[in-house]
Amino acid sequence: MPDPRVAVVGATGAVGPEVLAILAERGFPAAAVVPFASARSAGSRVGFAGEQLEVRELTDDSLAGFDLALFSAGAGTSRRYAPEAVKRGCMVIDKSSAFRMDPQVPLVVPEVNPEAADGHRGIISNPNCSTIQLVVALKPLHDRARIRNVTVATYQAVSGTGKRAMEELREQSAAALGGGDVQASVYPHPIAFNVLPHCDAFDGPDTFEETKLIKETHKILGDDGIGISATCVRVPVWRSHSEAVWIETERPLAADEARQLLEAAPGVRVVDDPSAAGYPTPSEAAGGDDVLVGRIREDGSRRNGLALWVVADNLRKGAALNGVQIAELLVRRNLIRVPQQERVA
Ligand code: A2P
Repeated sequence: MPDPRVAVVGATGAVGPEVLAILAERGFPAAAVVPFASARSAGSRVGFAGEQLEVRELTDDSLAGFDLALFSAGAGTSRRYAPEAVKRGCMVIDKSSAFRMDPQVPLVVPEVNPEAADGHRGIISNPNCSTIQLVVALKPLHDRARIRNVTVATYQAVSGTGKRAMEELREQSAAALGGGDVQASVYPHPIAFNVLPHCDAFDGPDTFEETKLIKETHKILGDDGIGISATCVRVPVWRSHSEAVWIETERPLAADEARQLLEAAPGVRVVDDPSAAGYPTPSEAAGGDDVLVGRIREDGSRRNGLALWVVADNLRKGAALNGVQIAELLVRRNLIRVPQQERVA
C-alpha cells in the first residue's frame, strides 16, 4: 500500500500539536499530513517537521481522500465527524471516550493488546490516559501471576483537561503568589495549591474518569473478573499523571520478580532505587515515551499483595504517542483501510 494521507483533527488543542510532533519525530511514513480544527481556527498555522501548515476546517466532507485521521478534539466532535470520515473511506484513531466501550471498536494499547486492532471496522479507540499507563504496568504482572484485584489512586495533571485548564493553573498560581483573588472557572474549586478528588463529571458516587479506568482496563486485559477500585484526583501538575497502585495476584509474586518482569516489559522503564531517592516523578516522565514504574514492594496487608508507583506523560503515552503507535501498528499489519460495508457510496 502507498504511504497513507493523514489528517490530524484537533491540531490546535492540547494533544493535536503533540500528535504532529510525534509523527515527525518518529518519521511516520505519510504521503501528506494535514491539520484540522474547528472553523474558529481555520487558516491559522501549526508547526510540523519544521514547516508551518495551514489548519483546515473539519466538515462532513473534509476527510474524503484521506486514509487515516487521528482525532483529539473531544468526544462530541468524534461522535459527530468520525462516522462521516469512515463513510468516506478514511479510518479513524480516536482519542476521545466516544467509542471506547463499543464492542465493535477495538481499544488498543500496542504493548498490551495489539491483536485487538485486527478486527477493526474503521475506528480504533485510544484508551483514557490514566488507563494506558496502568495497563502497560499491569500486563506483565497479570500474565505471570493473574491479577485479581487492583486499587488505584491517581494524581492527574491539568493538561489532561486541555489548554484552558493549563491557563487556569498558571493564572491562579500567579494570583495566589501575588496575594490576589483566585478565580475558578474550568474546575469547581481552585486547582493552584490544591488537590481535587474529582476528574471528569460525577456519574453517581463515582466519576466518569473512575468508571473509564475500570471498564477500559477490563476490556484491554480481556478480564472482567478483576476487581478494581479507583479514586481519580486532579493535582496542580502541568504534565504527567502519577498512580499509586496496589494489586493482589492469584499466584504469589515477589517484588524482585515483579521488578524483573517490568524491566523486560515493552514501554516500561523501572526507576526504583529508594536509597538514592530513585523513583518516578511527573517532571522526569514529561516529554518521554516510557511508562515509569518504581516503589515496587510487597504489600503485607493483603495476600499476594504488591504496591507500585506508575508515572507517564499523559499527553504523549497517555494520548498522542499511543495514537501514533496504533498508526504504526496498522502500517506494520497493513490494516489502514475501511471495510467496504462501512462505506457509503
Ligand atoms: P479549535 O481550536 O478550533 O477550537 P483542547 O484539548 O485543548 O480542549 O482542544 C480541543 C481541540 O479540538 C482544538 O484543536 C479544537 O479546535 C478542536 N475542536 C473543538 N471542536 C471542534 C469541532 N467542532 N470541529 C473540529 N475541531 C474541533
